[in-house]
Amino acid sequence: THIDWDVDVAEKGGYPDFMMKEIHEQPRVIRDTLSGRLADGRLSIDELDLTHEELNLIDRVYVIACGTSYHAGLIAKNLIEGWARIPCEVEVASEFRYRNPIITPTTLVVAVSQSGETADTLAAIRDARVKGAKVFGITNVVGSPVARESDGVIYTKANKEIAVASTKSFLGQVVSLTLLALLLAQVKGKFKTNQVRLLFRELADTAEQVEHILSDTAAIDEAACACKDAKSALFVGRGMGAAIANEGALKLKEISYLHAEAYPAGEMKHGPIALIDEGFPVIAVATKSPVYDKLVSNLQEAKARGAMVVAVATEGDEDIRAHADHVIYIPKVRDAFSAITASVPLQLFARAIAIERGCDVDQPRNLAKSVTVE
Ligand code: G6P
Repeated sequence: THIDWDVDVAEKGGYPDFMMKEIHEQPRVIRDTLSGRLADGRLSIDELDLTHEELNLIDRVYVIACGTSYHAGLIAKNLIEGWARIPCEVEVASEFRYRNPIITPTTLVVAVSQSGETADTLAAIRDARVKGAKVFGITNVVGSPVARESDGVIYTKANKEIAVASTKSFLGQVVSLTLLALLLAQVKGKFKTNQVRLLFRELADTAEQVEHILSDTAAIDEAACACKDAKSALFVGRGMGAAIANEGALKLKEISYLHAEAYPAGEMKHGPIALIDEGFPVIAVATKSPVYDKLVSNLQEAKARGAMVVAVATEGDEDIRAHADHVIYIPKVRDAFSAITASVPLQLFARAIAIERGCDVDQPRNLAKSVTVE
């Protein structure tokens, strides 16, 4: 057994579990996903197999996925609409496949799947192609069904992911979708070459920022300790933060079995605020953004009712301390890139709670890494 232990530790690269190992691989995933993508101020994603003329004709985008991959899609919607100004809907594949979505030859369907073999996502791809859409796959598995059945494919460079709950693949998906949004914006003439260069450089800088987040997790562990015995938790944010909150809540419920749900913070008053009583955890994505002030007033409403607020906030934001019991600081990035940085402390927060509760973080009950049946 001594040998087994050594093998186990070696496989996990010295980390206590695969989830922790994979969380720590994320700076590398960002770097590899971006490597070779920008030359002379022009983005190249040649694998997409569409000319710039064809890309320019795209007037509607659907992002189709399940689980964590769906949440990467929610982030992409903000970028595709915000930068490229193309209407974008994000839908879970199991719904998309059974309705009659509006698809024309200028519709782009982006299918996101870590495993590349999720049954519902594959069915959605097939259906979309029959209806005449162009389909791009974003997957982590080379030669997988999603890759084979799509018109073009972007590979996330996460490498094999072992923990059932996705972390590094999610980050790879977000970075890949950010590149796609940037490409669409460039093709549509929304950005000049030097703007693309600047955005790309800032995107690449997130690798170092994530390293910085990983280097000191004391505040995250402390917040996790304070929340570990809760029965339920609410994740909130606005704008990009609302999208990020969804993945934060999913990670927590998947691996710690603590009930969590995500809500756009402005919507709290229409229901979830009724849940809040003394000590109820409200985890807020409170990074600096155009809707920061709005989010802060929502946090005041929550605090006034006794919530224990955990805020993921931008370094240097001292004001947030007045509205939160626990503050997790992360480096300042442009709002468009905040999902890449803010998701990382939420992964660590979920893991820390799961460990405190004695859960197997790599293999949560009832979940499978890939779901190849309907
Ligand atoms: C399963 C996994 C999730 C994953 C989802 C979609 O439910 O447990 O972690 O997000 O499938 O998988 P895919 O491989 O299509 O991204």
